[in-house]
Amino acid sequence: MTMSRMIVGLFVLVSLTLAGQRAGWWGRHEARAPYPPTPMALAYAETQRAEAARAAAVAAENARLAAVQTPAETEDALPPGHGREDTFARCTACHSTAIIRRSGLSRERWDTLMDWMVEKQNMTPLEPDARVLIVDYLAAAFPARRNNARARNPFLTE
Ligand code: HEC
Repeated sequence: MTMSRMIVGLFVLVSLTLAGQRAGWWGRHEARAPYPPTPMALAYAETQRAEAARAAAVAAENARLAAVQTPAETEDALPPGHGREDTFARCTACHSTAIIRRSGLSRERWDTLMDWMVEKQNMTPLEPDARVLIVDYLAAAFPARRNNARARNPFLTE
């Protein structure tokens, strides 16, 4: 056996050994545990976390402000019915529909409330046609409810 043959044979043997190891046929397979994060990496992750938390807080606050500031009420806040459009137009100049929606009055009381709104709250008097339309709508949409303490108007007690 010549020297060159031995060298070639050795080369083949080493190549096969390494290739087999690389292919996973033998040798150690377990993945090495990752290095623990460096202080720099930890600090960076912390910054990222703080930044994400801050962005979320800002988004939440913006959403809250948008909900408060945007005049979101539309006609749809009132139940559908003939006269809803006029009621919304005439009755939301000074307050939201909430004060209306929480009320439940007889037609007569709604009618009296129009005078109260004019006399005590400076509402421009409704034209007779509009008044009939609006009071009819209010009486139909928000009829008197029994035990409805919130709908009781101290100015309208007989
Ligand atoms: C010129 C401004 C103005 C207009 C227009 C107006 N209101 Fe009012 N309304 C007020 C004020 C002021 C109050 C009292 C709010 C309070 O007590 O904080 C009030 C209170 C009310 C209340 C509560 C009464 C209670 O039970 O104490 C109702 C219901 C109401 N309005 C309905 C209406 C309806 C319906 C219209 C449309 C026809 C209307 N308002 C239009 C100013 C107005």
